[in-house]
Amino acid sequence: MYLNRVEEKIYNGEFGVTLQKCMEILVALGKIYEADRLIPIKSAQISGVSYKTIGEAGLEYLKSLKGKVKIPALLNPAGLDRKRWIEMGISKEFAAKQMAILKAYEKLGVKTTCTCTPYYLHRIKKGDHLAWGESSAVIYANSVIGAMTNREGAPAALAAAFIGKTPNYGMHRKENRAPQVLVEIKFKLQDSDYAALGYVVGKQLGDKIPIFIFAEQKPTKDELKALGAALSASGGAALFHVKDITPENADYTLPREKISIEPKELEDVYGDAEDVELIAIGCPHCSSYELKKIAKFLDGKKVKRDTWIFTSRYLKEKNRSLVKKIEKSGAKIYCDTCVVVSPAAEGFSKVLTNSGKALNYLPSLQRVEACFNNLINCLRRACE
Ligand code: F3S
Repeated sequence: MYLNRVEEKIYNGEFGVTLQKCMEILVALGKIYEADRLIPIKSAQISGVSYKTIGEAGLEYLKSLKGKVKIPALLNPAGLDRKRWIEMGISKEFAAKQMAILKAYEKLGVKTTCTCTPYYLHRIKKGDHLAWGESSAVIYANSVIGAMTNREGAPAALAAAFIGKTPNYGMHRKENRAPQVLVEIKFKLQDSDYAALGYVVGKQLGDKIPIFIFAEQKPTKDELKALGAALSASGGAALFHVKDITPENADYTLPREKISIEPKELEDVYGDAEDVELIAIGCPHCSSYELKKIAKFLDGKKVKRDTWIFTSRYLKEKNRSLVKKIEKSGAKIYCDTCVVVSPAAEGFSKVLTNSGKALNYLPSLQRVEACFNNLINCLRRACE
C-alpha cells in the first residue's frame, strides 16, 4: 500500500508511539485486503465499548494510547445506562470498569455518545468515506445513506480516528458495491416483517449484497433500518440495495442470481411469546418516530412485565414528552446501552423482541431464549 511522506514518517514513529501503533494497524489491514492507499474519512464509530465485550485487555489498551483523535469519533452502546445502571441491575464492579472505559475514550477525544444509530445525531451524506464499526450502523450508512464504510473492528476504527484515514478497499470502492443477488418480494410486508425478512435473507445469502424488489410497497427508513440490522446479523452483509429506493440502486445492472421469499418463511421467524420475562425494543436504537408509535400504544396503559426500550441519549432528550408518556406506563427507556451488549439481560430466561438482530444474538451472547414478534404484539404482551 502506498504511503505518502507524512504517513511514512508516522509509520516510522516520528510522531509518537500512539500514531505509530495506529498506522501499523491500518497498514496491516491495507496489506491483507490489498488496498492501494489510505483515504480521508469523515468520521469513525467505535464498537468496542462494553466491558462485557472488550474486558480488561481492551481497557488497558485504551489507557496505553496518548493524544487525541483527529476526526469526529463516536461510540457504540456500552454495557449500561450511565445514569440508571443501578435500576438495570448492573453490579458496582462492572459499572466502575465501564466508566473507566468511557473515561479512557473521552481522554482520547472520542465523543461518548454511545449509540448504534449515530446517523441521527451526526450528519453524513452519500459518498462520504467512514470507518464505522457496528454492523447495523455500517449497513445503514452504506445502504440507506450511500456513504462508504467497511465494518471496522474496534482497534481499526480507533486507529482510523487517530490518523483521519482508512485503507481504500472493500466498501470504499464503487466496483465492490454492486448487487450480487436479486431478492423478489411479491407480497405485502407489515411492520416487523422487514426485520424477519433481513433475518431470513441473511441466513440464505451470507455476506452477499442483495438488491430487493418490493412489488407491493416502498419501505420507510425505519423499516430499512430493521431489515439491514437483521440482514447483517444473520448473514454478515455490509450493504443492500432496494430497487427505486436506495441511493445507489440504479448504478448497477441487476444480478442474474435470484431468490424469492415466501410469506411462510417470514411467518416462521415469529415466535411463541408465552412466559416471556423481558420485552426488549430498540435494537437498533429507536428513532423519534418509533418512540412516537410506542408512546401512542402505551398511553394510558400499564406494563406488567419488564419492558426496556433503548434509544440514544440525544433522542431521549429531544423527545421528552414521548419519554414521559412511555415511562408513565412503567416501561423503562434506557440510553448508552442495549439488550445485547449489557450484562443486564443475563438474569432473564426469555426475551421478546421485535428485532431480528437481537433474535440472532441474544441466545449466543446473553445465553437467553429469544422470541420475535412485531412491535404492537411485543407491547401488548408487556401489558398482559
Ligand atoms: Fe444496536 Fe445493540 Fe442492537 S448495538 S443494533 S441495539 S445489538
